[in-house]
Amino acid sequence: MKILITGGAGYIASHTNVELLKENYELVLVDNFCNSVYESVKRVEEISGKKVKFYEADLKNYSELEKVFEAEKDIYAVIHFAALKAVGESVEKPLEYYENNISGSLNLYKCMKKYGVKNFVFSSSATVYGDPEEVPVKETARIGATNPYGHTKAMMEQILLDSAKAHGWNVVILRYFNPVGAHESGLIGEDPEYPNNLLPFVSQVAAGIREKVVVFGDDWNTPDGTGVRDYIHVVDLAKAHVKAIEKLKNNQGTFIYNIGTGRGYSVIEMIDAFSKACGHKVPYVIGQRRSGDVATVLADPAKSIKEFGYIAELGLEDMVNSAWKWQSLNPKGYKG
Ligand code: UFG
Repeated sequence: MKILITGGAGYIASHTNVELLKENYELVLVDNFCNSVYESVKRVEEISGKKVKFYEADLKNYSELEKVFEAEKDIYAVIHFAALKAVGESVEKPLEYYENNISGSLNLYKCMKKYGVKNFVFSSSATVYGDPEEVPVKETARIGATNPYGHTKAMMEQILLDSAKAHGWNVVILRYFNPVGAHESGLIGEDPEYPNNLLPFVSQVAAGIREKVVVFGDDWNTPDGTGVRDYIHVVDLAKAHVKAIEKLKNNQGTFIYNIGTGRGYSVIEMIDAFSKACGHKVPYVIGQRRSGDVATVLADPAKSIKEFGYIAELGLEDMVNSAWKWQSLNPKGYKG
């Protein structure tokens, strides 16, 4: 079965590709390398011992994307990862975010319609809940993003659901919480140009690339005063996509699931766990709160467990150990 993966060279896609190849799916990847490199595709092939098909194309360019659909006639499903995703950058460059994420998705949805592809898995995010009224957050929580990036994800969901209704598509929307960690081989992992998220930053401090972690506030209403998040191992997250494809094979309709563990860790707990993994204390200072942050974000995983049969299996140690292995084996990411 042929699966088209947009953003196919990225962090979450590369781990998903490995899991899909394990299950013998045929992969067609599309990426414009705006935040990724071809090396990750080669590494996926190395891990799996299988080949994938690759197209360098920008989703903003309809005719470029259409060529892929024209050449790959029998696509069973699309998994849509491609998007810009840095919260802070989205506040500074909203137009770039709306153009990239929304027009890219519109082009993709138009191609699906034209070429009769009816199955879709969408890479969404807990960011669509914004500052949730109730934590743990259920899928029925109010959608209320707090930044342009979050708004684009919410809009991409809405356009998808409207199109699914009109054109009879089957859709699984996965709302990820905080993906971290890397493949156990240490061959693929997160390779940000500048780390905005906590774990990649901690990882670079541990490696001596950056001096210290700045903890964004210790006066939050949480047990140790630092922000609490629902971290999920990227390999667990990757497996959710395989499950989503299976769901589409056996069910019709649209389905929305939180992908998290329901268990939260504070910033200090993450730094401590990482210090154990790397064998030395990772230095940090307490700084100001980051604007737009909230105290606690946790998934209520009940629906995804009950209805989707999905349970994250890997724990905090697996997350930090694998992140450190990736960091130590690839001090300059994919570039060296
Ligand atoms: N933090 C620090 N110092 C840092 C970076 C982060 O203290 O240098 C703290 C934050 O204040 C927060 C926690 O670490 O309490 C996690 O922050 P991240 O930036 O790693 O993650 P966020 O929860 O802010 O956001 C992430 C993604 C979003 C996504 C969201 C979903 O960046 O795209 O998870 O919950 F939408």
